[in-house]
Amino acid sequence: MCQYSSDESGLVKDWHISHYVCRAVGGVGLIIIEATSVDPDGRISPNDLGIWSDQHIEGLRKLTDAIHKNGAKVAIQLAHAGRKSKAASSPVAPSAIRFSEDYHEPAQLDKAEIAKLVEHFSEAAKRSVLAGFDAIEIHAAHGYLINEFLSPLTNKRDDEYGGDLEKRVRFLKEVVESVKAEIPSTMPIIVRVSASDYYEGGNEVEDVVKILNLVPGIDLVDVSGGGVMPENHVKAFAGYQLDNAFKIKKGTGLPVIGGGLITTYPLAEYAVNTKCDLVFIGRQLLREPYWPLRAAKEADVDLEWPFQYERAK
Ligand SMILES: Cc1cc2nc3c(=O)[nH]c(=O)nc-3n(C[C@H](O)[C@H](O)[C@H](O)COP(=O)(O)O)c2cc1C
Repeated sequence: MCQYSSDESGLVKDWHISHYVCRAVGGVGLIIIEATSVDPDGRISPNDLGIWSDQHIEGLRKLTDAIHKNGAKVAIQLAHAGRKSKAASSPVAPSAIRFSEDYHEPAQLDKAEIAKLVEHFSEAAKRSVLAGFDAIEIHAAHGYLINEFLSPLTNKRDDEYGGDLEKRVRFLKEVVESVKAEIPSTMPIIVRVSASDYYEGGNEVEDVVKILNLVPGIDLVDVSGGGVMPENHVKAFAGYQLDNAFKIKKGTGLPVIGGGLITTYPLAEYAVNTKCDLVFIGRQLLREPYWPLRAAKEADVDLEWPFQYERAK
């Protein structure tokens, strides 16, 4: 989850180390770090983490070492915000349609620029391997660049990158392929999707199943939703994105991460028993970094605690 705690450089700061290490100590199995931009103009907001240059590797390496020492695995979320970048003075997008009054109108990408962006993702993947990450998550959700290509609401192109679903998926396909070429064959690729745009005329979960089935090389799907349009029509309740995760699991045969407002162990357990393979815990882990330890204790599950805390177990 974005920490807004770097600066123009996009480098890892002390905050990132403290924040993520606390979650590792707290018993999180896999930490997927915040949207980390493959391009300075792809940052969601100006103080996001970056991985657009080799200078970013050292700080990210410190971060992965510190997380590993405390018993968790760690993935990086590779991202480009497209038309929703608040850091770019001239944001880019598949089509020149602005998100809202509060955002700049983006410039429509030409094919050479698209190819360059695919390269940015693959270079970022190469750096992620050097920085010691266990997995790569490609951010194709929440109305950011890749999602903008996927959604008919934001992609009005009439070349090979827009139009029907097979064409709208091309950018994601190229990104996954180029990332895969740069990482060990044992390193998983996770793709985070918005299963629904929650908006008339946008993608629904059935479309997203078709999209994912057109992209070879995905190991795990992280199922979220929304973000393409400024207003969306979703009712959020505990576990509200689990049904979409299940539909994607069934429709693609891929393992999925599901969630949405999960704050209790019984709901997380129900989710992995009936809907998905892993659960994501977002805001609850902002409130309470040691939530997994507490949840395990309450459920009488014998989780290994840091030895320093054993007497509190
Ligand atoms: C402060 C904040 C930052 C977030 N940053 C990201 C992000 O960088 N990447 C991402 O995929 N989702 C991000 N999200 C969305 C969460 O990952 C998650 O999908 C959402 O909060 C719903 O899950 P929850 O109900 O467990 O919090 C963010 C959410 C919040 C509240």
